[in-house]
Amino acid sequence: MAFAVGIMSGTSLDGVDAALVEIHGTNTDTTVQLMEFATLPLGTEIVKKIKEVLSIETSSVDKICSLNVELGYVFSEAVKAVCEKADFPLEKVDFVASHGQTIYHLPVPGDHQLASTLQIGESAIIAEETQTTVVSDFRTRDMAVKGQGAPIVPYSEFVLYRDEKRTRLLQNVGGIGNVTVIPAGAQMEDVLAFDTGPGNMIIDELCQQFYQEAYDKNGEHAAIGKVDQALLSEMMAHPYIERPYPKTTGREDFGVEYTGALIEKWKNTVVQDDFIATATQFTAQSIAVNIRDFMDHQSDLIIGGGGSYNPVLVQMIKEQLPGRTVLIQEEVGFSSEAKEAIAMTVLANQTIHHLPSNVPSATGATKPVILGKITYVH
Ligand SMILES: Nc1ncnc2c1ncn2[C@@H]1O[C@H](COP(=O)(O)OP(=O)(O)O)[C@@H](O)[C@H]1O
Ligand SMILES: [Mg+2]
Repeated sequence: MAFAVGIMSGTSLDGVDAALVEIHGTNTDTTVQLMEFATLPLGTEIVKKIKEVLSIETSSVDKICSLNVELGYVFSEAVKAVCEKADFPLEKVDFVASHGQTIYHLPVPGDHQLASTLQIGESAIIAEETQTTVVSDFRTRDMAVKGQGAPIVPYSEFVLYRDEKRTRLLQNVGGIGNVTVIPAGAQMEDVLAFDTGPGNMIIDELCQQFYQEAYDKNGEHAAIGKVDQALLSEMMAHPYIERPYPKTTGREDFGVEYTGALIEKWKNTVVQDDFIATATQFTAQSIAVNIRDFMDHQSDLIIGGGGSYNPVLVQMIKEQLPGRTVLIQEEVGFSSEAKEAIAMTVLANQTIHHLPSNVPSATGATKPVILGKITYVH
């Protein structure tokens, strides 16, 4: 048995999620109890710095070098915050599992490049600040055996959600949408996972540009707006949507450049709330198109991540999947917001026990490998 804190900061840049858990067992016998969850909001200054380093136009090596250490301190604060909230002594935490902030992900390299990925947030700083063993940098080991290094959560989803009788699809709606398909009675090699396309990324960008709001709180703008069919058709024609899996995506495909170009082209024909409604419909439809074939009447689609708190988006997904069971994490007794931070603790628990936790059928890796790097304090 161990106490662990999982730290996750996704592509949305909304905050650093920290989950304090009690974890038992290993491999498929792993069980996790969530003790406390906290999100440490990211201040505007640091969000600006992160956005600067992840854009090729504004990034530079000195900014990356410094931000790596700065994020180490931010992640340490998140560890402390969740322990304080739980009134749980930091000294009793056995290990911290830190995903890091992805600043670049290059699973399919261009000319003169190698397949690679870069998550920053220095583990040496986290270890020193929290005086706790840190497991970090999970993706690179999978890439060393020809995997895409993503998706990273299917192992914990297989361990925690598999069912003998029902096929379970875990759809995460973060900045990007990604799904893990766990067929009824599956072995790990039967698990599939891939990115469905955008999650909240386009909706968030539109809200920021139109209203200086971080996101469409409870889908309020989308609820007022009307879907514009012409714009929707153009969005659905994005080549990523129909591309066969395995596939992964990111800001490179659906970031500010993509949304900015759409706004430029359509701003005189589509009013703001209609734009947001259309982007929400696109997000829902891109998810449905990508997962429909995996679902039958013995399947549950379980939606997690911040997007599960947008009722308009959830309703649009349901409408795209008539007759299918569509639930959100909370309805099956799990926390939507804590899911990925919890997943990190499952991966790190495997690492600590010298056990693998990549899912080759999901990442394309040639074999199971032990993910992560360990930073010791003593
Ligand atoms: N109440 C809400 N209403 C609508 N959208 C929400 C709500 N809460 C969170 N979100 C969306 O979820 C996003 C954060 O999701 P999250 O799962 O943390 O993503 P990531 O893993 O990319 O950080 C926010 O940017 C926002 O778009
Ligand atoms: Mg987040």
